[in-house]
Amino acid sequence: MKERIEVLLSAEQIDRRMAELADELYQEFGDEQVELVCALKGAVVTIVDLAKKMKMPVTMNFMSVSSYGNSTESSGNINIKMDLDADITGKNVLIVEDIIDTGRTLKKLKELLISRNPKKLKLVTLLDKPDRRVVDIKADYTGFTIPDAFVVGYGLDYAQKYRNLPYVGVLHFEE
Ligand code: PRP
Ligand code: MN
Ligand code: MG
Repeated sequence: MKERIEVLLSAEQIDRRMAELADELYQEFGDEQVELVCALKGAVVTIVDLAKKMKMPVTMNFMSVSSYGNSTESSGNINIKMDLDADITGKNVLIVEDIIDTGRTLKKLKELLISRNPKKLKLVTLLDKPDRRVVDIKADYTGFTIPDAFVVGYGLDYAQKYRNLPYVGVLHFEE
């Protein structure tokens, strides 16, 4: 099977949207420090590009949470493979995700972080695929709402490939 990628969101479109999101987040947090929390690995590109546009002091924090293996379907199992190395109690926390699909990953992550009593907890995602949702979770800030297609690039992978593409594309499988 040959893999072909069709551009869905260009690097320029994403860059413009990131700047808008950073402005909206400034309305939310003002000049208070924000602890960005990124779920590895998909959200790495989004956290870096968003952080560069944010006007307030931010910290970058990483967890490893996974719901997918090397397939295009969610397994329904979520593993916390690596936890934060900082205490978020009383802090402004912003979870940064690349995509909300079934919602299982973000729901688990949100529950876990709320249990640590942050001052405020908000969620931002580059992409939202509402048609695929199986649990009730909504992002506070969404870059783009997209149809139910398998997307790669800008951090999103297929079998760990394509995370480095500067755009988001739909992956097609051809004979
Ligand atoms: C992908 C994506 C989100 C999650 C969304 O991560 O980066 O974190 O799946 O799916 P859900 O809404 O159905 O939970 P994945 O588990 O593939 O790990 P990765 O970030 O390392 O690619
Ligand atoms: Mn992920
Ligand atoms: Mg993945």
